[in-house]
Amino acid sequence: MRKKQLMALSTSSVITLKINGEKHTLPVDHRTTLLDALRERLDLTGTKKGCDQGQCGACTVLLDGRRSVACLQLAVTAEGREITTIEGVADGERLHPVQQAFLELDGYQCGYCTPGQICAAIGVIEEHAAGWPSAVTEDVRPEAGPPDLTAEEIRERMSGNLCRCGAYVSIVEAVARAAQTRQDAATALPDAEEAVA
Ligand code: FES
Ligand code: FES
Repeated sequence: MRKKQLMALSTSSVITLKINGEKHTLPVDHRTTLLDALRERLDLTGTKKGCDQGQCGACTVLLDGRRSVACLQLAVTAEGREITTIEGVADGERLHPVQQAFLELDGYQCGYCTPGQICAAIGVIEEHAAGWPSAVTEDVRPEAGPPDLTAEEIRERMSGNLCRCGAYVSIVEAVARAAQTRQDAATALPDAEEAVA
């Protein structure tokens, strides 16, 4: 009976998190956020803590490919999901196109917000390619297709990520360039397949 009571009162669990393709098993207090598990328990400090209350976007990671603020996500609820942090977005030595665009266009100053900006931008570009409208999209009918990824669209879609240094102009340019790179790759793919056939 006592054992049952103690189990009912247990406030920790052993969980397995799949991060950047690798499994990590660790005991966590149920109140541990995904952000603290990444930074304090697994030494994945690329993900930054800014406000710790969902306001700044510095802690943005990708969960099953969708952007999420890790400070508002309990680690236990991320079990079974594909977690991607800034440490996992490059392809070996090859930077992700969003990283490359930030580098080429100076999309950062101090760089504190940058990991979150990059993870958010990756999510934004995929959401846009999938046809998701934003709050500033004028024609939201499904048959209208994805709106042009204008500066206004990028600013709205990236509005959850704050930059204290004010690198916004370059960030918008970097997101636009990376989106164009993705689109070029997507349109080049069928041609390449035809050439092989
Ligand atoms: S640290 Fe998570 S949104 Fe600011
Ligand atoms: S580059 Fe410094 S906070 Fe964005």
